[in-house]
Amino acid sequence: MLRTHTCGELTTKHDKKEVTLCGWVHRRRDHGGLIFIDLRDRYGFTQIVFDPENKEQFAQAEKVRPEWVLMITGTVRKRVEGAQREENPTGGIEVLVEKIVVLNESKTPPFEIDRPSPAEAGLRSASQENDVGEELRLKYRYLDLRRNRLQKNLQLRHDICQQIREYFHKNDFIEIETPILIKGTPEGSREYLVPSRLYNGNFYVLPQSPQQLKQLLMVAGYDKYFQIPRCFRDEDQRGDRQPEFTQFEIEMSFCEEDDVIKVMEGCFIQMTEKVRPDRKIQKKPFPRITYADAMNKYGSDKPDLRFDLEFTDISEIVGDCGFKVFSDAVKEGGVVKAMKVENGEKLSRKDIDVLTELAQTHGAKGLAWLRVGEDSGPVAKNSTPEFLEALNKATDAKDGDIIFFAAGAYPHALEPLGEVRKSVAAKMELIDESVWSYLWVVDFPMFEKNAEGEVGAVHHPFTRPHKDDEEVFQKDPLSARATAYDLVLNGSEVGGGSMRIHERDLQKKVFDTLGITDEDADRRFGHMLNAFEYGAPPHGGIAMGLDRVCMLMAGEPNIREVIAFPKDQKAKDLMLGAPSPIPEEQLKELGIEVAEE
Ligand code: AMO
Ligand code: AMP
Repeated sequence: MLRTHTCGELTTKHDKKEVTLCGWVHRRRDHGGLIFIDLRDRYGFTQIVFDPENKEQFAQAEKVRPEWVLMITGTVRKRVEGAQREENPTGGIEVLVEKIVVLNESKTPPFEIDRPSPAEAGLRSASQENDVGEELRLKYRYLDLRRNRLQKNLQLRHDICQQIREYFHKNDFIEIETPILIKGTPEGSREYLVPSRLYNGNFYVLPQSPQQLKQLLMVAGYDKYFQIPRCFRDEDQRGDRQPEFTQFEIEMSFCEEDDVIKVMEGCFIQMTEKVRPDRKIQKKPFPRITYADAMNKYGSDKPDLRFDLEFTDISEIVGDCGFKVFSDAVKEGGVVKAMKVENGEKLSRKDIDVLTELAQTHGAKGLAWLRVGEDSGPVAKNSTPEFLEALNKATDAKDGDIIFFAAGAYPHALEPLGEVRKSVAAKMELIDESVWSYLWVVDFPMFEKNAEGEVGAVHHPFTRPHKDDEEVFQKDPLSARATAYDLVLNGSEVGGGSMRIHERDLQKKVFDTLGITDEDADRRFGHMLNAFEYGAPPHGGIAMGLDRVCMLMAGEPNIREVIAFPKDQKAKDLMLGAPSPIPEEQLKELGIEVAEE
């Protein structure tokens, strides 16, 4: 190495030692004839000092600008009394430079790198570092990556991956890579295509996940598999989605749902305790709740259980309540839920309007509410006294509380109230950030109707029906449950998996229900159906979104902050300039012609 030490390493123990350091000029200060430079690398900063007596070196130092790359040789010395900086590990020393070599110069960066010291970083909130527009940060990502925030995040991501590898290795899992150029895996979202040069008109597909391949590895006898694969989905972008993202995932044979859950839970406990020892896991083992309970009690399939605000079902008492929104909902086969908020006085009329808008953006017609003990609000004005009394009893409400309602068809009518629940918790500061709430949501529905009214798989078509629903799912697909489970952390879905079908006949029946013909099934999934005829063991697995896990562990607001080179929200790589047009020649080779707009 060109250096003897890193910029984060020297302390008073190294007093009088001759050292060589390499790094970037972080800050330069001219003071009473001396020049001080904070030299920075990945490990920290070291203050280096130029003495005017050393004329040639001093003249060089005067030219130096931020982000130049230097190699310096000098002698470590203790800082004078009062100049020590305890918050910096190297804050007790400085290096008096004897020789400086400029390894490279730098243009003035488009934004300040200003990587704060670890102590400063603690004080600095993410939003303060957000001052630079994201477009600029993404265009000059290599400079953004020099900053403290991303350096910390990528280190954390590395630490998490280390924990994952260590944990699964220790538990006898074998890491196997699966291909990136494959045939389509039908998991619901649009696929990225790669044209074949050798077979014009034919395409490879980039995997949405290694789902089918990991199942084939089970057929092959690798009974405990893990991988940290890259996945590709051509879907609309959001804060917690990217067109390419990373999972960490497992597949196991000769197991039941409980085994998969326990293994992954162990990984999360180890990871959280190692990487975020400052956070307390709310409950171990992680609680489990059925999808139906989650929807009925919290209006979400990923409820945040760091706070209560549980719904009460009042469908049975709204019969003659006088408020038509409620009684009609039940008459039409729907449900009515009440969410009581203690000390609801804290919510102003304006807050309620904001919550109503929130409910509406999530598909509700409105948000009925009631202040207990007052006549205001749509419900109090229209309801019978008998109903109001029964309501107070059912929700155990007292004067000053406020109650919000959802009325309509299960489950979708409950989602807006679920959003209101989260927003109320934030507004009323009901969340203890030092506690992390992990939760398994189990027994997801097997099928759902899409926007076109067709039956589709909720998870994917290889998911096993719940054992009590195996006989009936064909007759009444929409009420059938799957052996599928999600892991939720603080209200975010971090992963999901299922037990799989391993019998050709059962798989055919599921394809049938999905409206996939025998011919279609053979063309698209012939390899799976064939494999099931060669001794496929019972198996199941799960995949976690690594980027989401890192985002939550880092306390970041979106997954771009934990990815070295992310796409922007329009799926563009602003640094590389991708996607980009391809020369005519290359397209020709692929047998592709681009249609005029
Ligand atoms: P699923 O589709 O639920 O399951 O994906 C698993 C997890 O991957 C993460 N994830 C994403 N992260 C970032 N950007 C995206 N576009 C994105 N899409 C998904 C989520 C999600 O929980 N093969 C199955 C798993 C299995 O059955 O074993 C699968 O991929 O955190
Ligand atoms: P309307 O009869 O449509 O004027 O609604 C009366 C009140 O009920 C208003 O406060 C609406 O915001 C509310 N409301 C309407 N539909 C629902 C619903 N599905 N769930 C909860 N509240 C609703």
